[in-house]
Amino acid sequence: MRQRIIMDVDTGVDDSLALLYLLASPEAEITGIAATAGNVPAAQVAINNLAWLELAGAPDIEVALGAVEPLEVPLRTTEDTHGPQGVGYAELPAPTRQISARSAADLWVASAREHPGELIGLCTGPLTNLALALRAEPELPRLLRRLVIMGGAFNHPGNTTPTNEWNIHVDPEAAKIVFDAFSAAPADRRPIVCALDITETIEMRPAHLTRLAERAGSLPIETVSPDDPPGARSAADNPIIRHVTDAVRFYFDFHQAYDLGYLAHMHDPFAAAVALDPALACTRPATVDVELAGTLTRATTVADWAGMWGRPPNADIVVATDPDRFFDRLIARIGDFARARIPGDSAPDRVAAEPG
Ligand code: BDR
Ligand code: CA
Repeated sequence: MRQRIIMDVDTGVDDSLALLYLLASPEAEITGIAATAGNVPAAQVAINNLAWLELAGAPDIEVALGAVEPLEVPLRTTEDTHGPQGVGYAELPAPTRQISARSAADLWVASAREHPGELIGLCTGPLTNLALALRAEPELPRLLRRLVIMGGAFNHPGNTTPTNEWNIHVDPEAAKIVFDAFSAAPADRRPIVCALDITETIEMRPAHLTRLAERAGSLPIETVSPDDPPGARSAADNPIIRHVTDAVRFYFDFHQAYDLGYLAHMHDPFAAAVALDPALACTRPATVDVELAGTLTRATTVADWAGMWGRPPNADIVVATDPDRFFDRLIARIGDFARARIPGDSAPDRVAAEPG
């Protein structure tokens, strides 16, 4: 049976690859996409998702608009990280598909009720809409089969303030509502949390992009380099590879500008892979809470690993993984998916596919 999955995203370069990863995974059926304000405003997030779906020739998947603002604070977006539209240097064709008439929170509640115990939730943006959904349906932790969250930083520095991870920083009140809601959930329903501690080990480099293009049979084979002239764009004949290359180039440039190297942390695709296959990750239970009061530490995620608070664990935090295994899977899946979508496909004859 295919795994039903609802995505809650703030697309975003790495959210884009998470979406492509799930579209490319034969065992996954995306039942809906909640567009959450974060990297860019919610309306742009929705457009980005519709555009990727159309470009990928995906079935008609519902994309629902989320709240325009976080629960209690003004929205902060980060176009410097993800590009003016959220997809780096890529310019996706304007989608003809329409945004759903219902809200992202309604989508969450209706989907979970429709498939009790079956639905996998994947959150790769701020938790605003999941928090709103939990207010409307407090039984969500028991209705979902699994929840995977990209968010937080535990024994690791933040990427937004010294202690804050971006998704939690944008809407800390929502994050607290979500973690509190799972405090009474059975152990097998605890959210799996992919925090910066692990997602910053998922380093995509230009060689990964080249392998992806080769796997897709895209020509010409390109290797993105920091020495390319400013404004360099992909000439790949495969539209998925071309737009992914332009999107990820921006993310490489951003990471390099912050002295992280010419690479990009693939936070969200890793969370997507774990959502489908938790065996990719080693986890450790902990009680997670979100600081809302600290003057320096507001929006910091705190993990009680040793039960010092006397509260049961409400999360399984990913503590180890094999990044190479993840990248092999991502390249094989998205590469084969892109290869199958070349119009008048002659790609299968171009390059012998590597196993994976
Ligand atoms: C998270 O922040 C966003 O910018 C990324 O898309 C990812 O979900 C990493 O902190
Ligand atoms: Ca994201």
